[in-house]
Amino acid sequence: MGPLLYGLLLVSVCTFSTGLDFQRELKPLGLSVFERRTERAAKIVKRSLPSSWLAASPNHKIQRRSSDSGESCQQHQGYKPKLDDNTHSFKFDDLSGSVSLAWVGDGTGVILALTTFQVPLFMLRFGQSRLYRSENYGKSFKDVTDLINNTFIRAEFGIAISPDNSGKVILTAEVSGVQEAQIFVSDDSGKSFRRQSLPLNPMMQISYNPETSNVLMALSISNDLWISQDFGSTWKKIHSMVCLMKWGRNSTIFFTASQNGSCSDRGMLDLKRTTDYGHTIKTVASKIYSFGLGGRFLFASVMTGKGTLRAIQVSVDHGESWNEAQLPPVGHEQFYSILAANDDMVFMHVDEPGDTGFGTIYVSDYRGTVYSKSLEHHLYTTTGGDTDFTNVTSLRGVFITSVLAEDNSVQSVVSFDQGGEWVPLQKPANAKCDATAKDPEKCSLHIHAAYSIAMKLNVPVLPLSEPNAVGLILAHGSVGDAISVMRPDVYVSDDGGYTWLKALDGPHHYAILDSGGLLVAVEKSSNDLINQVKFSTDEGQCWSVYNFTNEPIYFTGLASEPGARSMSVSIWGYRDAYLAQYWVSFTIDFRELLTRDCEDKDYVEWLAHSDDISDPNDGCMLGYKETFRRLRKDSVCWNGRDYLITKKPDPCPCTLDDFLCDFGYYRKENSSECVEQPDLKGKVLEFCLQGKEEKLVTTGYRKIPGDKCEGGTMPTRNEIDLRKKCVSDLVDVQLLKSDGHGSRSAVIVTTVIIVMLLSIAAGVLFVKKYVCGGRFLVHRYSVLQQHVEDTATAEMDDPLDSNHTQNGKIVFHDDSDEDMLE
Ligand SMILES: *[C@@H]1O[C@H](CO)[C@@H](O)[C@H](O)[C@H]1NC(C)=O
Ligand SMILES: *[C@@H]1O[C@H](CO)[C@@H](O)[C@H](O)[C@H]1NC(C)=O
Ligand SMILES: *[C@@H]1O[C@H](CO)[C@@H](O)[C@H](O)[C@H]1NC(C)=O
Ligand SMILES: *[C@@H]1O[C@H](CO)[C@@H](O)[C@H](O)[C@H]1NC(C)=O
Ligand SMILES: *[C@@H]1O[C@H](CO)[C@@H](O)[C@H](O)[C@H]1NC(C)=O
Ligand SMILES: *[C@@H]1O[C@H](CO)[C@@H](O)[C@H](O)[C@H]1NC(C)=O
Repeated sequence: MGPLLYGLLLVSVCTFSTGLDFQRELKPLGLSVFERRTERAAKIVKRSLPSSWLAASPNHKIQRRSSDSGESCQQHQGYKPKLDDNTHSFKFDDLSGSVSLAWVGDGTGVILALTTFQVPLFMLRFGQSRLYRSENYGKSFKDVTDLINNTFIRAEFGIAISPDNSGKVILTAEVSGVQEAQIFVSDDSGKSFRRQSLPLNPMMQISYNPETSNVLMALSISNDLWISQDFGSTWKKIHSMVCLMKWGRNSTIFFTASQNGSCSDRGMLDLKRTTDYGHTIKTVASKIYSFGLGGRFLFASVMTGKGTLRAIQVSVDHGESWNEAQLPPVGHEQFYSILAANDDMVFMHVDEPGDTGFGTIYVSDYRGTVYSKSLEHHLYTTTGGDTDFTNVTSLRGVFITSVLAEDNSVQSVVSFDQGGEWVPLQKPANAKCDATAKDPEKCSLHIHAAYSIAMKLNVPVLPLSEPNAVGLILAHGSVGDAISVMRPDVYVSDDGGYTWLKALDGPHHYAILDSGGLLVAVEKSSNDLINQVKFSTDEGQCWSVYNFTNEPIYFTGLASEPGARSMSVSIWGYRDAYLAQYWVSFTIDFRELLTRDCEDKDYVEWLAHSDDISDPNDGCMLGYKETFRRLRKDSVCWNGRDYLITKKPDPCPCTLDDFLCDFGYYRKENSSECVEQPDLKGKVLEFCLQGKEEKLVTTGYRKIPGDKCEGGTMPTRNEIDLRKKCVSDLVDVQLLKSDGHGSRSAVIVTTVIIVMLLSIAAGVLFVKKYVCGGRFLVHRYSVLQQHVEDTATAEMDDPLDSNHTQNGKIVFHDDSDEDMLE
C-alpha cells in the first residue's frame, strides 16, 4: 500500500494544471484527519521513551521562568482523581486506516467521525467507511453507519459542514465506474441523512454559499459548474469548461472558463460572474491566467500581451471596473500569491524570476492598486507552495514569516505593524543559542511553520494562535542565527510575539482551550506511543502531566472543538491488539479541574503593543491602542464558553509612521520622511484608475490602510501630479459587457433515485500529499515548475472564509489538496 501503488489510483484525483495565481493554502475545510501508521512491526517492541518523558511523573512540574514577574509555578494539587473521573475512553471496533472528525454546530457537542479503510486492488478500489456520531464532545460515539446505508464515503472530500452552524452536513459517496455520484445530506447535525443522486461526478468537495447554506455549488470532473438552491435536491448546470470557481460576497459566484475546452489554456481564460445563481452570466475580464478574492478585492492575473508576461488587475466592484496593480509583471515560471487580505489591504507575494525559492511581499493601499515593498527575500518555495507566512490572530497587526538569507539559511521575522517593518524574533529569556549562532549570547528565535513541515522536519503542528486568546502564540522553534533542523522545542509568547519563552522540550501537539485559560500538549515521541497529556493554566509557564491511561496508545492526533472555547480535548490513537488494530479516543474534560468561574479579580488590564508606559504613544498600532481584559496567569478558573474579549480602543495622534510612502517615493534609512525616488523622475508611469486617464495626485504620503490615527502630525507637502499616460491595455474593455443572454446551459432537474449501491471508497487523502504535492522533490529549492501554482492552491483567507473556526472546522495538517483541483 505504498505511495506508488496509490499513485496509480490518483490519476483522477490530481489535475495538474499550471499556474494558479493567488491561491494560498486554505485551512482545509473541516475536520481533523488522523491516519494510523501502517508499518507496525517494529513499533511495539521499541518502547524506549525520550528521557524527558521518563523524568515526568504525573506531579512533576516543568518549570519555566516568566517573562517579567518571577512568578513561581502554580501547583495543581490532586488533579489526578478529578481528571480520572473525567476521562472517557472510547474504543472503535474498526480497522480503518484514517479517521476524519468534524464538529457540527457551535457548542452542540456533536462530532462526526468518518473512518475509511481501503484496499487498492489495481484500478479497483475496495474498502469501507463507517460513520460515528457523538453528542457529548466525543466522550462516547454511536456507530451510525446504517444512516448512510453502508455506502462508501469519499474521505478525501471530507465532511462538508455548513459555515453558518445550521447543522447541515454533506458526505460524498464514491461510486466506482458510474458517472452519477451520490451525496448524503443532513440538516439535523447528522441525526438523519437523505441520500441524493447527483447529476454530476464532483471533482472536489461541494461548497456552501457562505451567505445561505441551502445553496450549493459543485464542479464536476468534466468541468461543468452546477448549482443547487434546495440543499442538494435539484441541480442545475450553469456553465461548462469551468476551471476555477469561488463564492464572492452577496451570493456572487466568480469563475474562470475556457473557450477552447482546456483549462491548461492559461492566459486565455474568461473571468465570469453571476449574481443570480447562473440565470445571467457576465464576462468581466478575459485573457485571464487566474483569479483570487481577498477581502473586498477581486484580483485577476492577466496576460499583458508582452510575451508570456502577466500582471495583476484589481477590482473593488466585483469586476465592473479594473485597475492595474502597481506590481511587477511575472513570467510563466513565476507566481503571485495573496498571503492575507482583509477589507483594508492585502499582502501580496510576488515570486522572484528564476528558481530562487523566494520573492517579495508587497502591501497594498486601500484601493489594492498601489503597493509598497514590505519584505524582500521572502521564503516561498515553489516546490510545495510552502510559505511560513502566518497571521497571528491573537494580536492585531502581527505577522510572522521566514526569509531566505544570502547563505541559504532560513530565518524567521516578525512584523508588529502589518508589514511596515520586519524584525528578528527576540531570543527567549530562558533559552540558549544553539550551534547555528556565531555569538552564543546574541541570536534570535526562529519559528517552524509550513516550510519545516513540508521539509519533513520533526514539527508536528503549525504555530497556533486564536482571536479569543489575546496575545497568546504557541509555536515550534529553535534559537540561533537561523532555523535549525535539530529537534525543535515549543515556545510560547503571551504578548503577541514580542517576548518568548521556552515552554516545552521537544516537539508536541498542542491545543488552546477555554479562550486561552487552558493549554494542553501531547509530546510527539519517536515511536508514537503515549499515555500522557500535559496541561497549563498559566499560558504555558508551568505544565502538569497527567497519565490518561496506563496502557500507551499509538498517538495520531489531538482534537478539540474549533474556536478554542471548549473545555475538553480528545486524544486520538490506536492500539495494536493481538490480531488487529483498533481506534481509541480519550476525551478529557477539564471542567472539573477549573473549579470556579472567573470573577473580576481574576482579570487584569493589558495594553497591547506596549513597551514604554511613559510614552504617550505607547501601544499605538495603526493609529489606535487597545487595552484588553485578560485572565491573570495565576488565576485557575473557568472563562466559560460565553467569554468575550473586552477591549478598549483609544485613538492615537498621527505621526509620519502612520503613513506609507506613495508610489514613486521611498523612505531613506533611519528616516520617517518620504522622498521622491530619483529613478522614477520623468519616467512613464503606467497607472490607470477606472481604466481611464486620471489625475494622480500625491503628496508622497498615504495613510496606512486601516490606520485610525487622529490629529497629530500630518505630512505637509505640495501635491505632485504623477499622471502620465494610461497604458492599461490588459483588460479588453470590449469584453467588459454582459453576454447578453444568460447562460445557455440547460436546466437539468434530477429524478431522485434511491439506489442501494455498494460503492468502493478509497482514502487517498494522505497519499495525494506525496503524489500531487510535488513533494518527492529532493533538491531544496528546485521546482516542478509546472505544478507550482496548483500545489499552492486553495482559497486565500478572505473574510468570507475566515470564520472556519466557528464552523466546526479545524486544521490538522497543512495539506489543502481538496482545493488543489484547479
Ligand atoms: C437506506 O436504505 C433503506 C432501504 O434499503 C431506505 O429506506 C433508506 O431511505 C435508505 N437511507 C438512506 C439515507 O439512503
Ligand atoms: C450586499 O448587498 C447589500 C444589500 O443588498 C448591500 O448593502 C451591500 O453593499 C452589498 N455588498 C457588496 C459587497 O456588494
Ligand atoms: C482557440 O484555439 C484556436 C486554435 O487553436 C486559436 O486560434 C484561438 O485563438 C483560441 N481561442 C482562445 C480564446 O483561446
Ligand atoms: C489577520 O487575522 C485577524 C484575526 O483573524 C483578522 O482580523 C485580520 O483581518 C487578518 N489580517 C489580514 C491582513 O488578513
Ligand atoms: C505515568 O506514565 C509514565 C510514562 O509512561 C510512567 O513512567 C509513570 O510511572 C506513570 N505514572 C503513574 C502514576 O502511573
Ligand atoms: C541607522 O541607524 C542605525 C542604528 O541606529 C545605524 O547603525 C545606521 O548606521 C544608521 N544608518 C544611517 C544611514 O544613518
